[in-house]
Amino acid sequence: MQKIGIVGCGNLGLSLLNGIRQKNTTAKIYGSRRNISSLKQFESENVVFTSDNKELIAECDIIILALKPYTIIPFLTEFASFFDGNRHTIVSVATGITTAEMKACFDFDIDIFRAMPNTAAAVNESITAISFGRDHLNRQETITEIFNHLGDTVVIDEQLMESATILGACGIAYVLRFMRAMIQGGIQVGFDSKTATKIVSQTVKGAAELLITNGSHPEEEIDKVTTPKGCTIVGLNEMEHSGFSSALIKGIVTSYEKIERK
Ligand SMILES: NC(=O)c1ccc[n+]([C@@H]2O[C@H](COP(=O)([O-])OP(=O)(O)OC[C@H]3O[C@@H](n4cnc5c(N)ncnc54)[C@H](OP(=O)(O)O)[C@@H]3O)[C@@H](O)[C@H]2O)c1
Repeated sequence: MQKIGIVGCGNLGLSLLNGIRQKNTTAKIYGSRRNISSLKQFESENVVFTSDNKELIAECDIIILALKPYTIIPFLTEFASFFDGNRHTIVSVATGITTAEMKACFDFDIDIFRAMPNTAAAVNESITAISFGRDHLNRQETITEIFNHLGDTVVIDEQLMESATILGACGIAYVLRFMRAMIQGGIQVGFDSKTATKIVSQTVKGAAELLITNGSHPEEEIDKVTTPKGCTIVGLNEMEHSGFSSALIKGIVTSYEKIERK
């Protein structure tokens, strides 16, 4: 039986736990946080919560660190001696803490990987970027499968982990702000907020599905809805005159520069 530990069952940790639990009914999952009183409702035969990280490390082979970034190094420093390089694989989902920084907490070799999901993990629609390094225990496939339970995965070099954070994790906010603007436009042309939100949500889902299913470039799909001299192209061009694509690209680059400066 696979034994997976999730240290830090907060927002993301709990989403991960629920995703794994729903899709992998045979895995035994241990979750920890210092105060576990709010987690009781999620307990089951295969899900155990503890506030004792030593117990979690002793029970599990794959250990996902879903702690806030500033607590990763203190956690590893405190608990390094309880890990075993021939048994444990660590996966950190924390932003900005490199595998070199984490490995420096150990005086023995241990496999440590990084993964960057987004909040859509809560509805099993995350894209998770994963970077693998030394995989002494051959767990790459198992770990990819764990994150596939939360949506889809893409394997990247660790140097691109900050870029993945911007495009995938911050990306959720960019898309939602774009959707909010569409909803506001929808209200201006006559819909109540609830109806506009429903139309926009399904339209964005449908547009994404077209790219995923057809494997097409966005411009190919845009060509299909832009009749010459029609209402779509005049609207699109007006958005571009106001800097639509440029604003998005500049925002992404500004976020990236900020994360790189940290
Ligand atoms: N949210 C996202 O969309 C997202 C996306 C990608 C990556 N991330 C990364 O995921 C990490 C977690 O983010 P989050 O939003 O889920 O934060 P969060 O809700 O604050 O969760 C962190 C959890 O860690 C627990 N914790 C703190 N110290 C602990 C310890 N020594 N042992 C065990 N548990 C401990 C806290 O609970 P107690 O105080 O009760 O211990 C808290 O529940 C961050 O590093 C973030 O960069 C988040």
